[in-house]
Amino acid sequence: MSSTPVVVAIDGPAGSGKSSVSRAAARALGFDYQDSGAAYRALALSALERGVSTEDAAAVIASLDGFDYQIGTDPDDYFVRVDGTDVTDAIREPRVTAVVSHIARVPEVRSYLVDLFRGIIEASSRPGIITEGRDITTVVSPTAPVRILLTASEEARMARRSAELPGQAAGDVGRQLSSRDAQDSRVVDFMNAADGVNTIDSTHLDFDQTVAAVVELVQATRATT
Ligand code: DC
Repeated sequence: MSSTPVVVAIDGPAGSGKSSVSRAAARALGFDYQDSGAAYRALALSALERGVSTEDAAAVIASLDGFDYQIGTDPDDYFVRVDGTDVTDAIREPRVTAVVSHIARVPEVRSYLVDLFRGIIEASSRPGIITEGRDITTVVSPTAPVRILLTASEEARMARRSAELPGQAAGDVGRQLSSRDAQDSRVVDFMNAADGVNTIDSTHLDFDQTVAAVVELVQATRATT
């Protein structure tokens, strides 16, 4: 592919469905898919495994030096590896979710990972790439031709997240989700759409309808550019 990939930037709060929606939309469009939250999670997991305190910003910054991270961008072959070890499932463990906001608020971590995400976007060999996270529409790819804020009511997000984690009490899942959003939104505003960003509110849409809304927006933009 010689032309530059179409960059689709998607932000949204926890439980908005952005990971599964972005991946399915990438599959439908034949695009790559990048889950940026996975890198924050992988770094948090790596700190936990190495005994680095996630609240010690200087130690977390020092750990970036040896951070060996790989992510699969094929929506049909998604994996996350750190130091060559598969951590695709481990990064979703509650112990990681509980501390990931600590490392995501460190500016040096953010700028390091923003560069990494941009490198992965540039390296895409498909016609496009969907990258999802919290600051993709505003910091990582503010000039992306398609920028989307995927939202849903807090009740809908709690119910969806709880269905994904059947082993955990719904009340605990809801409290963790709100507290993580509160911490994360102090660092980047992903609750309000920046200028030029399209909001898709999935509160009353099912999964397929939400994917279709994203795909339509991408196709409409491609038709006019
Ligand atoms: O989307 P997620 O829950 O896997 O993200 C994990 C954490 O990483 C989340 O608590 C906030 C942070 N994050 C971020 O600060 N910026 C991003 N672009 C993506 C994730």
